[in-house]
Amino acid sequence: MPHSHTRNPFTAEETPAVGVSFEGLSKNFGSHAVLRDITLKVEPGEIFVLMGPSGSGKSVLLKHIVGLEAPSAGRVLINGRDAALEETRSHLRIGLVFQAGALFNSLTVYDNLALYLREHQLCDESGIREKVMHALKILSLENTARKFPSELSGGMKKRVAIARSLVMEPQLLLYDEPTSELDPVMSATITEIIASLKNEYHVTSIVVTHDRDLALNIADRIAILMDSRIIHLGPPDTLRHPQDPRIADFLYPKIDLNHPRFKHLET
Ligand SMILES: Nc1ncnc2c1ncn2[C@@H]1O[C@H](COP(=O)(O)OP(=O)(O)O)[C@@H](O)[C@H]1O
Ligand SMILES: [Mg+2]
Repeated sequence: MPHSHTRNPFTAEETPAVGVSFEGLSKNFGSHAVLRDITLKVEPGEIFVLMGPSGSGKSVLLKHIVGLEAPSAGRVLINGRDAALEETRSHLRIGLVFQAGALFNSLTVYDNLALYLREHQLCDESGIREKVMHALKILSLENTARKFPSELSGGMKKRVAIARSLVMEPQLLLYDEPTSELDPVMSATITEIIASLKNEYHVTSIVVTHDRDLALNIADRIAILMDSRIIHLGPPDTLRHPQDPRIADFLYPKIDLNHPRFKHLET
């Protein structure tokens, strides 16, 4: 890889961001219609945030982009090509920061990050070292290189998961609940990192979350998925004072101990 002449081992000019289109995507599990006729386009280089209540289908929608779910109807296109086809994804670099983190516990942080580069034989060990240490530095994780995942806090594991997706120089980054289970300070840090990655690399980011602060602070656009459909799509400013009572209740819930919802607690 011809990266050695640049100080930054991630060469943004060589990694054009990708666009993702959902065209009439529907997904059923048996008789359960999770997604109905979803049509939207995520533009190259934007931070697109998908919000919605638990169980509304956010993760299912994300999984269609990487072929982990197949549409019941409609399709998902990455740069105009069908995301369901392995050949569409095989020549793209798509980073996944999924809920569970999915680090290999038997490998050090360094080796977790080096794994993709070694498997794909993308560079020699000194090139790998440069990329891994650069990614760790961006996420303030230099001193964790020799540690194992079990020695890290939840927030550190999330950052390692992000760092790991960075070493492949992603054109598309998919985050599933990147700030869940984190304290407010760490959530703010992760929020800043996601925003700074957009500025530093021309990466397209799709962020699934129900973290309102995260969404309002970094999104170029926010979509709200509810009742199997996108019921709102627009920049953060369109959600500061929502008129739709479903959106107002979701984003700005009032604590009312007499509210009927307390009589139907589900979880
Ligand atoms: N593989 C599956 N088989 C059956 N039902 C599923 C499957 N995956 C998700 N679901 C259901 O689809 C709905 C949406 O799930 P999910 O996308 O995980 O929600 P969330 O918005 O919380 O990420 C839930 O009711 C869930 O139980
Ligand atoms: Mg989910």
